[in-house]
Amino acid sequence: MGDVQMKTMENKGVKLMLKRLSEEKKSLWGGFLVTCAGAVLGAFVPLIYGQVIRLAGDKNSFIWYMWIYVLMWVTIDQLHNLTTRYADRKGADVGWTIGYKLFMDGLEHLVRLPMNFLAEQRLGKIVQRVERGADRLEQTIREGLFSLAPHFLSFTFAIGIMMWIKWQLAITVVAIVVGYTTAMVSSNKKILALNREIRKMWEEAWGHLWDVVTNIKAVKANTNEEFEIKRLKQNFGACYDKERTAEDVRMKIKTREHLIFGLGAVAVISCGALMLRWGVFDAGNLISFLGYITMAYTPFSRLAHNWRLVQETIINEERVANFLSEERENYESGGHFPIAGNIEFRDASFSYDGQSNILENINLQISAGETVAIVGESGVGKTTLTDLICQFYRTTGGQIMIDGRDISCWSLASLRSQIAIVPQDISMFNDKIRLNIAYGNVEHMDNDEMLEEVARVAYANEFIESERFADGYDQVIGERGIKLSAGQRQRIAIARALMRDPKILILDEATSALDSKSEKYVQEALQALIKSRTTLIIAHRLSTIKKADKIVVIHEGKIVEVGKHEDLLAFNGVYRKLVELQNFGILN
Ligand SMILES: Nc1ncnc2c1ncn2[C@@H]1O[C@H](COP(=O)(O)OP(=O)(O)O)[C@@H](O)[C@H]1O
Ligand SMILES: [Mg+2]
Repeated sequence: MGDVQMKTMENKGVKLMLKRLSEEKKSLWGGFLVTCAGAVLGAFVPLIYGQVIRLAGDKNSFIWYMWIYVLMWVTIDQLHNLTTRYADRKGADVGWTIGYKLFMDGLEHLVRLPMNFLAEQRLGKIVQRVERGADRLEQTIREGLFSLAPHFLSFTFAIGIMMWIKWQLAITVVAIVVGYTTAMVSSNKKILALNREIRKMWEEAWGHLWDVVTNIKAVKANTNEEFEIKRLKQNFGACYDKERTAEDVRMKIKTREHLIFGLGAVAVISCGALMLRWGVFDAGNLISFLGYITMAYTPFSRLAHNWRLVQETIINEERVANFLSEERENYESGGHFPIAGNIEFRDASFSYDGQSNILENINLQISAGETVAIVGESGVGKTTLTDLICQFYRTTGGQIMIDGRDISCWSLASLRSQIAIVPQDISMFNDKIRLNIAYGNVEHMDNDEMLEEVARVAYANEFIESERFADGYDQVIGERGIKLSAGQRQRIAIARALMRDPKILILDEATSALDSKSEKYVQEALQALIKSRTTLIIAHRLSTIKKADKIVVIHEGKIVEVGKHEDLLAFNGVYRKLVELQNFGILN
């Protein structure tokens, strides 16, 4: 096996394709056998019509013989027709199945990847990669797979029968085919390199598009429509241009293909005609031979085309395979344990990039049911600290214990199901209020009683049941909740957290974006929420902080002060400075 071929065999894209195909082995075999049978049948057609012509020319033979051959011709041709249709249908079937499975695997993988991967990626790029990978694989299987084997068979048969009719001519045909193959191998390389480049360009363009779409309000607010349209045109324009270049290369390949084949066919047929004149050959032989030349060339050119298709698909699948080999969040390890709510950080450190620590040697004990306020300058690592408790990220040093047990004892599902977060940037789905609240516990999506109860406790019923929300809980709230005010969004988020009835509650600057009336509502909603659970509040407002059992002050990645409001004020340290600088909001 050549070097290039070895490399192809080790290629991840090839492996992926083979694996996916082997999963559909049963359907494949069925289709394969039927199409091969079809190809064998089809191989006899030219021989039969050659015989028809011969019998028609031979005035001494019985005319019935000719009709028998015509009948055979029709029957075999129609059987061939049936097997071809069957193969097409089967190919489409297997193609859809494999394409669908690959697409779903890609999407599932995307959803299950850890935050540290997802935070770095342009998601539009990945979705495009998975979509294209699935689509191309489906297309290749549908168009190419089942036809590969029968085409190859037809080709071999045609050559074989030509050898039998007149080997001198058949050898010429083979020589042409060999010449063609050599010429094609070099052009394929070129088109593959182009394809790699094109795939990357498409993905980048789609990645940017997603970025624009998800930030469309910012685009408009900064009057950057022109700027973004220009960038979109640049990115996608470049893709289309490159596609044109690739198509040019393909066209050149096809022209060359026809040049070789066309000249070859003319040469062979001319020789045949001469032989007819010399009497070495009869007309029936020549007609059959002509049929077999078409029968050899057509599948061969289809083979070449499909081979190119397969090679181009490999590039798509290689990229999908790379994505699929990214490590998922580990959902298997760990078990389910009910959480009481004691949290302990033991010498915990964390770094996003593996170089500089965001948090360093954090030691902190929180007892079940306590409310702990975490304060510190912006960007000091408060959100990161809470992300560690949810295991969106894992500590790079030290340990986090819950109820005296290492946090890794819990499965991610078990751990997260007992925690609720009201995050800094609240995620809203462009769906009904019902779904947005019940998102904390989707099983209760249609439990109106429960929805109304949590909405009431979260002070959200007041606006949901107002006249402006004509559809009440079935009101759709727009792209990322655009139809809601910040305060309303926050109350929905609190209702969502209540829905979870968590043991540990994390409130990330939950009241920072609010006017005083909304804040009053939210504050009261929060009181209902933090009762009887361990609560971590990342807060700007002194009013929230003062009620906390304990205030933790983070500075330069370390915990510098822990205590009650009055004690910390008296301590005259970082906390006091924060308060004095009014770094966290209104003092009262
Ligand atoms: N996904 C991330 N990758 C790399 N750095 C990050 C990431 N998220 C946050 N950071 C950095 O970590 C630091 C702490 O961020 P964060 O915990 O959000 O701060 P806080 O919540 O205290 O304002 C910041 O300097 C921020 O730039
Ligand atoms: Mg934060």
